[in-house]
Amino acid sequence: MDKFVIRGGNPLVGTIRVSGAKNSALPCMAAAILTEDEITLENIPQVRDIETERKLLASMGAVVDLGAENDRHHTTISCRTLSDPVAKYEIVKTMRASSLVLGPLVARTGMARVAMPGGCAIGGRPIDLHIKGLEKMGATIVQEHGYLEARASRLKGAHLVFDKITVTGTEDLLMAAVLADGETVMENCAREPEVTDLAALLTAMGARIEGAGTSTIRVQGVASLHGARYRINPDRIEAGTFLIAGAITGGDLTVADCNPDHLRAIIAKLEEAGVRIDIPGPDSVRVHPGERLLAADISTEEYPGFPTDMQAQYMALATQADGVSLIKENIFENRFMHVQELVRMGANIKVDGRTATVRGPAKLSAAAVMCSDLRASASLVLAALVADGESILDRVYHMDRGYERFEEKLRSVGAEIQRMGNVFAPREPQPVAD
Ligand code: UD1
Repeated sequence: MDKFVIRGGNPLVGTIRVSGAKNSALPCMAAAILTEDEITLENIPQVRDIETERKLLASMGAVVDLGAENDRHHTTISCRTLSDPVAKYEIVKTMRASSLVLGPLVARTGMARVAMPGGCAIGGRPIDLHIKGLEKMGATIVQEHGYLEARASRLKGAHLVFDKITVTGTEDLLMAAVLADGETVMENCAREPEVTDLAALLTAMGARIEGAGTSTIRVQGVASLHGARYRINPDRIEAGTFLIAGAITGGDLTVADCNPDHLRAIIAKLEEAGVRIDIPGPDSVRVHPGERLLAADISTEEYPGFPTDMQAQYMALATQADGVSLIKENIFENRFMHVQELVRMGANIKVDGRTATVRGPAKLSAAAVMCSDLRASASLVLAALVADGESILDRVYHMDRGYERFEEKLRSVGAEIQRMGNVFAPREPQPVAD
C-alpha cells in the first residue's frame, strides 16, 4: 500500500492547477446511460473513483473510451447496448456514488438491478430518498439478496419533495425525470454546482430542465436524448483544499483553473480566520498570509453553506489558529475520523457529539498516521505540511479516490512530499466515503 512521506515547514509558493470535479464527472458519466449516442466528457479528473465508474459502465455493456494513455482527461461513452443493466456489489461497495446509475437505468431500459450500498466510514449512507422518488414516478422496486431491483415500462412525471436535501438523490431523480412521461417538479433539491453541471450536460443532450441550482427543479420529460460533448467544471473541494494548504503553510499560493464563485463560503471563512485572499482573475484565487491565523467557527451545510467535504481540511487549519474554533458537522454522523490522528500529531481537539472544539495554536509534531477516508486524508496531509519533522501517512489510497496527482501538485509549489509504494503488500478492502 502506498504511503506519503511529508516533511513539514515549507511555505507553498507559486501556482497550482485544479482538476475537473470528481463529483460532477460521476453523475455526468452516469447520464451517458440515457442515450444510445456517444457522450464525450472533457476535464475528467484522473482519480480512482472515475476508473471505478468506467468499470461499472463497461460491466453493463457500455463502450468506454479511456482517452489517450498519457492523457485520460476526456472520455467517450457509448451506451448503445446495455446488455446487463446491473450495478454489482463488487463495484458498489467501493464507491457509493454507483447508486447514481439507478435512475438513468430504469429510465432508459425499464429495469435496473443495483447492489444496496452498505455503511461507510463517515456514517450511514441510505438511498431511501432515491427509492421513494422512483416509486412516486411509477417504478416498482423490490429489495432482495442485497440488491434493489427497479422496473417501470415508462416512468411518469411526478411531484417530488425531498424530505432531506441529497446531492446524488437530486441527480439520480433528475436523470430519471428527463425521460419520464410528462412534467416532474422536484422540491427541496440540492443546489450544489455539481447538480448544475449535470443539468447542463442533460440540457445539451436535449433534456428540458428549469431551475437547476435552485431548490425547485422542473423537468418536461422527452422521448429520447441525443449525444453531446461537455466540459466538467473545476473541483471546488480540491481548490478549497489547496487554499488551505497555502494558508496553513503561510505561503503565497495562486489556485488556478478554479471557479471562485463556487468557493464563496470557503473564501469568506478563510478571511474570517485572518487569511488574505485576492481574486486575480475569473478563474483563480490567491491566498497569502495575513498577520496571524484566528479561530473561526464553522457549521457544515448544504451548498451554498460551508461544505462537509471541507470540514476535515478546515480543522487542520483551525489547529494553527489563535483561539477556540467550534466545528459542527451537520451532514454526516461520523465524520470526525481525522480527529484522533490530528491529536496524535499534537492538536488539541475535543469531540462532543457533532461538535469538535479545537484549541489553537498547537505545535504539531510529525507522526505516523492513518488515513480513514478521502477528506480525512487531505486533512492529515495539511497538518503534516506544518508539522515539525517527517510524517508518514498510511493508506493514501483513500486520497487517490478523489485527488489527482495530489503529491505532485503540492511538490510543484514547494512541499516536501513523496509517495512510497509497497508493491508486495496486499491491498486492503477499501471502505467508501464521499
Ligand atoms: C454527495 C457527495 C459527497 C458530499 C455529500 C454532501 C458525490 C458523489 N458525493 O454525497 O462528496 O459529502 O454529497 O455534500 O456527489 N440521505 C438520506 N437518504 C438518502 C440520501 C441521503 O437520508 O436517500 C442523507 C445522508 O445520510 C446524509 C445527507 O442525506 O446525511 C446528505 O447526503 P447526500 O447529499 O445524499 O450525500 P451524497 O449524495 O451521497
